[in-house]
Amino acid sequence: MTAFVTGATGFLGGRLAHLLCRRGEEVTVLARATSDLSGLPDTVNIAQGDITDREAIERGLDAHSDVDVVYHLAARNDLGEPDPALMQAINVDGTRNVLEAAAERGLVSVYVSSATALGPTGSKAEDESWWAPSVPQASYAITKRRAHEVAHQLAENGARVRIAMPGYIYGAGDPTPLSGVLKRYIDARIPIGYLPEVWQSFVHVEDCAELLTRIASRGRDGESYLAVERAASMRELFETMGQLAGQRPALFWMKTSLVVRMSGLAILFSALTGLGKAEMRESLAMVAGGHWSFSGEKAKRELGWQPRELSAGLEDVVAALRNP
Ligand SMILES: NC(=O)c1ccc[n+]([C@@H]2O[C@H](COP(=O)([O-])OP(=O)(O)OC[C@H]3O[C@@H](n4cnc5c(N)ncnc54)[C@H](OP(=O)(O)O)[C@@H]3O)[C@@H](O)[C@H]2O)c1
Repeated sequence: MTAFVTGATGFLGGRLAHLLCRRGEEVTVLARATSDLSGLPDTVNIAQGDITDREAIERGLDAHSDVDVVYHLAARNDLGEPDPALMQAINVDGTRNVLEAAAERGLVSVYVSSATALGPTGSKAEDESWWAPSVPQASYAITKRRAHEVAHQLAENGARVRIAMPGYIYGAGDPTPLSGVLKRYIDARIPIGYLPEVWQSFVHVEDCAELLTRIASRGRDGESYLAVERAASMRELFETMGQLAGQRPALFWMKTSLVVRMSGLAILFSALTGLGKAEMRESLAMVAGGHWSFSGEKAKRELGWQPRELSAGLEDVVAALRNP
């Protein structure tokens, strides 16, 4: 197969590009003029362009007319981004640009949405049919939901779009703030755990990349697949990380309800986690409205996907955080 990948210079996209190249597939990546290409495999073709520029995407696709599948991962993946218009332009309009350009050429697209697009849940694990009435007031959540709707609508109109919805993607090199929080936790003299009662859904970055290739080769047009090994509480995440790192159990847990209600505790939370003000506000908005508890059973059942267990995957994370 010949693949066209957006977001290949990112955390998940880099793993996907390497996986495809290891399998002998021809890969073209769409990268910005400013993108750091140093982590990409030597064998990829580079098409320069930004997903907000429809013509650049079309040029990239047309220069490689044997493309079979477009993996669209590029997004602004930040909490606390001060410019909501930028998030809209990249995450929503950019997604429309890529998926429409692929559809006009009759190509299969695997769009990487997010479990976030489905909205918060209770603690019971929900499947792909879940759709909460709203998402938290965070530009990332709002724009990923809109982009998900764009992808869904294009599929309903006949585009060959397949949607992957990862939960929290963890692994060595994770650029998200939670990775920094976990590093502080395992290194701390007095370990403090955060938001222990919140349920989150986890997938290892390598398993997530593997699932994207399965969706491309065996998935069905118009279908959505949650990329989730399983849901677990944040307490379990911190405790497992602590055990693997030889850290003693947390001496204090900052519960969501306390941090949200008590401004003094919120300031302490920000200082201890290293999150900036806007990042903290949106991070708390993400968890104040419920859990993010989802099941990846459909991908396991229909696509034969076998992701690794959370504790096995976290061993990699601890090793990487200990030896950066
Ligand atoms: N990480 C998670 O836990 C998670 C969970 C669920 C879903 N997702 C989704 O998975 C996808 C990949 O996430 P990630 O964690 O790998 O993100 P990431 O590390 O932040 O990578 C983002 C990628 O998008 C590219 N990009 C950003 N704006 C662009 C633009 N205007 N034009 C072209 N490329 C642009 C970046 O290129 P540069 O190198 O030029 O910046 C980079 O390659 C995203 O769609 C994200 O929403 C992530």
